[in-house]
Amino acid sequence: MAFSSMPDKTIQQTPPRSWPQGQRRRLAVLVSGRGSNLQALHQSAQAYGFALDWLIVANRKDSKGLIWARDHGLETELLLHSDFASREEFDRQLAYRLNRFEPHLVVLAGFMRILTDVFFGAFHGPTINIHPSLLPAYPGLQTHARALQDGVAVHGATVHSVTPQVDHGPILAQAVLGVSHQDDEKRLGARVLEMEHKLLPMVTWALLRDDLQLIDGRWSLCRPQSDLPQGLQFSSCLFHPQLVVSPR
Ligand code: GRF
Repeated sequence: MAFSSMPDKTIQQTPPRSWPQGQRRRLAVLVSGRGSNLQALHQSAQAYGFALDWLIVANRKDSKGLIWARDHGLETELLLHSDFASREEFDRQLAYRLNRFEPHLVVLAGFMRILTDVFFGAFHGPTINIHPSLLPAYPGLQTHARALQDGVAVHGATVHSVTPQVDHGPILAQAVLGVSHQDDEKRLGARVLEMEHKLLPMVTWALLRDDLQLIDGRWSLCRPQSDLPQGLQFSSCLFHPQLVVSPR
């Protein structure tokens, strides 16, 4: 892949359009751990002045994301999986809680829990996940180490719809970076995470604005793209828009 022909290495954010004035959107974010993607979403919403009601659901009481959300006055729910007799019972309660909130969108942001068919049978709202690899490559864990082990030239992050098959589901957007000879697992992970923090808000706001539609199992843009960050390749014939930065 010729990086010289790729867009500028900095990702420039232009303020995205909001949804219609006077309307609010309800956003549920599911976390298990540190919650940096949650914080990136929240910071982006604050920066743009978006009108949102938040529900943060965590399955671990030591989740830094949960603690951060409480500290910032967001509505939170702790569903400790150890309190439930089975995975299905947990999923039923999670779906019940989400249905009560009636979110416009659910974002899995580091939610380390496999959802069963019980969840998908009881909750039907749009649900997306952010994953630290260029799916379908490297589903599952330790994505950066596996990518380095394989000697890949490009790596990145993916936002995709959540389906019963873990780390599958129609891809909404990907952020791509070139792997540098200086990258070890930690450095590569940090570089990917930095991109996740731009990718996830961008996709979330596009979905909440109804800018994207799922047709025959593939996502496409259904509105003009003028306010997308530079370097982002959305087009009517490219369903896997890529955010590309050069290797450092
Ligand atoms: C991110 O790398 C995300 O892609 C993956 O889990 C990690 C969560 O990080 N699903 P954080 O909790 O948002 O900091």
